[in-house]
Amino acid sequence: MTPPSLENLTTLRAHLDAQKLDGPPPDEPGRDPGGLAAVIDAIALAGKWIAHKIRAARIEDVLGEVGDVNLHGEHQQKLDVLSDRVLLECLRVRRDVAVYASEERDEPVRLSEGGRYTVAVDPLDGSSNVDVAVSVGTIFSVMRNVAPDEPSRSLLQRGSRQVAAGYVLYGSSVCMMITLGNGVDLFVLDPDHGEFVLVQKGLRIPESKAVYSINEAYWNEFGDELRSYLGWAHDNGYAGRYIGSMVADVHRTLLKGGVFLYPAMRKAPEGKLRLLYECNPLAMLVEQAGGSAATGHERILEIEPRELHQRVPVVLGSPAEVDAVLRHFR
Ligand code: AHG
Ligand code: MN
Ligand code: MN
Repeated sequence: MTPPSLENLTTLRAHLDAQKLDGPPPDEPGRDPGGLAAVIDAIALAGKWIAHKIRAARIEDVLGEVGDVNLHGEHQQKLDVLSDRVLLECLRVRRDVAVYASEERDEPVRLSEGGRYTVAVDPLDGSSNVDVAVSVGTIFSVMRNVAPDEPSRSLLQRGSRQVAAGYVLYGSSVCMMITLGNGVDLFVLDPDHGEFVLVQKGLRIPESKAVYSINEAYWNEFGDELRSYLGWAHDNGYAGRYIGSMVADVHRTLLKGGVFLYPAMRKAPEGKLRLLYECNPLAMLVEQAGGSAATGHERILEIEPRELHQRVPVVLGSPAEVDAVLRHFR
């Protein structure tokens, strides 16, 4: 990781501009500089605001539950709702997002008529951890709006059609991991200047690492294949690491290697994690970094989504480690 220095200080905006992404629509040169760069920039702005809110949460009393449950029947944290609102508003003004979908909203929100992109987000992932100061994150997935007449249909494209994906991790530092389809780049928020600066370009996940990340409390719910893998891992000296925020567990896996699993279980045959705004974006990042991402039976990015909040089992991480799991599923 190359710490930013005066010679190579690259901000997120400069990095995005250098990628020559879509500019404003040719037929509307005066239109705000839309395009993919503006969409990512809007998410980065929302991420800075959310990071600040999380740091100040206990002081500003925005911790704790709203007292309501979302469509998944999960207790909404105040910060879930706040994060969702700021992401929606930051994207609304950029005018190139046709539709916004969120874990916290039953239905998508129509934004700019003629917008070229759709955005699906998990506004605050791992939010049950936020009250105990454990890392949480925002996950985002960007697709092209291929159905201008009915943009919601554009949300239900397979993950391999994503044009960008990533997360903002609110941890000991605020990190932004992004892929635009040609590799993975890591930025860190410089708190003194309020800028995300590039710290690693073309990040590659380690080929293997004897670390697995799973909530073993569900042992009684696991199928025989998974128990067989875990028995093999125990016999082969694997370490366990589980934070309980997917973004934090996947960030560690991308940087250090290993495998993250949220499997199908008897009580949850599709697992817990949502395809469109958790598994697809994180699967794209992991694959772009040289890793693998599967359900146990198929590649995550090839799943044809049926509905917005569809759940899928997920095994992702270092290629050798995902293979070690899948050998027990064959
Ligand atoms: P969210 O807070 O967006 O609902 O996501 C929580 C998810 C994910 O971050 C994490 O991997 C998983 O829940 C942990 O689930 P368990 O507590 O069942 O292990
Ligand atoms: Mn989540
Ligand atoms: Mn969430």
